[in-house]
Amino acid sequence: MVVLGLHFGHDASVSVVADGELLVHALRERHNRVKKAVGLDAEIIQNAVAAAGLTLADIDVCALVSTQDLEILTGLIDGFEVELGEDPAHPVASPLVGLLGASDIDPHTLLTHGLRRLFERSENETHPLFLDRWKRMLPEWERFARREISSHGWLDLYTTHESWYQQRGLQGLAGPLAGGALDDPIRLGMHYPLRVRLFGRTLPGYFVDHHVCHGASAYYRSGFDQAAILSVDGGNPSRNLSGHFMLGQGSKLHVVAPHHLALGGLYRNVGVALGFDALGAEGKLMGLSSYGQPRFYRDAFTGNLHDLQRRHGTDPFRAWMKHCLDLAATRGYARDYGSAESVLSPLSVDIAASTQKLFEETWLRAAEVLDASLRASRLATDQLCLTGGCALNCPANSRLHIEGPFRNLFVEPNCDDGGLSVGAALYLYHNGLGRPVDPVIAERNRSPYRGIPVDPADRERTLDRAQENFQVSRPDDPGRAAASDLHEDRILAWFEGRSEMGPRALCHRSLLANPANGDNWRRVNQAKGREPWRPFAPVVLEDAMPDWFADCPTHSPYMLFTARVKSRQLPAVTHVDGSARIQTVTAENGGIHDVLTHLGELSGTPVLMNTSLNGPGEPIVEQPSEALAFFENSGIDALYLDGLRISRN
Ligand SMILES: [Fe+2]
Repeated sequence: MVVLGLHFGHDASVSVVADGELLVHALRERHNRVKKAVGLDAEIIQNAVAAAGLTLADIDVCALVSTQDLEILTGLIDGFEVELGEDPAHPVASPLVGLLGASDIDPHTLLTHGLRRLFERSENETHPLFLDRWKRMLPEWERFARREISSHGWLDLYTTHESWYQQRGLQGLAGPLAGGALDDPIRLGMHYPLRVRLFGRTLPGYFVDHHVCHGASAYYRSGFDQAAILSVDGGNPSRNLSGHFMLGQGSKLHVVAPHHLALGGLYRNVGVALGFDALGAEGKLMGLSSYGQPRFYRDAFTGNLHDLQRRHGTDPFRAWMKHCLDLAATRGYARDYGSAESVLSPLSVDIAASTQKLFEETWLRAAEVLDASLRASRLATDQLCLTGGCALNCPANSRLHIEGPFRNLFVEPNCDDGGLSVGAALYLYHNGLGRPVDPVIAERNRSPYRGIPVDPADRERTLDRAQENFQVSRPDDPGRAAASDLHEDRILAWFEGRSEMGPRALCHRSLLANPANGDNWRRVNQAKGREPWRPFAPVVLEDAMPDWFADCPTHSPYMLFTARVKSRQLPAVTHVDGSARIQTVTAENGGIHDVLTHLGELSGTPVLMNTSLNGPGEPIVEQPSEALAFFENSGIDALYLDGLRISRN
């Protein structure tokens, strides 16, 4: 059974899942070089299927998903059509068909066209920063706005239990399951049937709910046979779009309830208010928060949208910013925030730290409420999967690891919208078709290295070019050679095999430097064209992790937890508050394991600075030619390209 997962929103991606195994995951941004690119084209789908060793004739079913209210851009693929409806070819029925029919609701009236609405509103109805963000993510926006690109509305499946619309505060969700039993078909049937016309074939397809896809992307790869699932992102909480509490049991994934957290949108908007680009504001705010103190934090701002509206009577972001600024005025802070120059002002860093603290406290309370609700329903579990874009917040995840009610946590490497195509396909395969989760396959599905293999023609051209302009050698032991370079304080790009999924560099497309030299913080920020204050993360041999770091899971393979640095010997990767966002490495990570092992022998420190291989505002490099271009332009010392060492003459 081959399921093609297609995600059309931002961080659009294709996943090919055969008999439950994720064979390929291709993120559009890595191929069209537009950060967080929206929409899919024919080429990326064809390349992903071919990379899986399959043909288009092998696809049995499609699982489609989008970012909350963004339509499916059908017009980017010749002959691609989507039509709501069920026929005998569909392998799984959807309870929503009967439910909507019984309620006399035409599903076409529920379809959303978020991009159309955005681009056809007058300029002054949309904040210019917000509009600019979408224009950059959709390079075809002008043609789309002129209606030269066709689209089909997207159905996010929030048309369900009445109780899910009651304006319950966070604590109000702590009781037993509301809205029917756990095996209620609605909790298990968050998909709607489609007929998909793709590459000349008519295939059965389904829309799958956005947060159910986040949940499936985490749970079916976690290795847990039962787990609570918390999915949170920046979607609109008033329309049940910011995330769900869920429960995974065997092959089934049940929606417990939408939680209405307003966390993701608030956090991003604070980042933008402090002067960061709307694309990537969250990550920068997280880094900045370590510079300040949470002096504006108040418990009264934790809770979900309904709590905040009851207490503060307005939109949560505005209420929070007003509170911070009012308090700052009474305490004599200069009103200095909102630009690149003011990023490190006392007001800016204390707002960042206070917002981070608000995030962490809300994160903890949400997990406690989910735990309480499952306990009250006699469904308690020790395992928790965290997912949705908010699960990229490493300090919050570590707080949950240390203080939260769950013993074991799992966060998948592409917990942002980039992972939705994985989740859509796995949800359909396991929950829809009832196929059990094979623990061996689930373990293979935890490998982040599922990008499309590099283009051989690109590799050949790149080698020719490298040989003309640089010194190229093939060391007998690339791991030992790279360790020696790093020990001698050279800055390296490390490019190996298939690319990693998710926004964090996991050592197949990485920049590496010696963490013992504090000046490498400045040098690497300069090479990448980043702001000098932004911190760097370490990568460490997993066996040696407890010698260097604490207060973090020992197994942290995807750079999604923050640790406390125990040693003073790592100044280039120790943030100003003594923390570090670590990645732990085993032999499964490939060549980086050898590099760290040899470096440990040479220097006694099996730790490196690791950051993504990309220039400012660019996606992580995908092809060898892009890695060579980075090497040429950045002034770094060497590029290791699948075992070759390229250095300047
Ligand atoms: Fe999302």
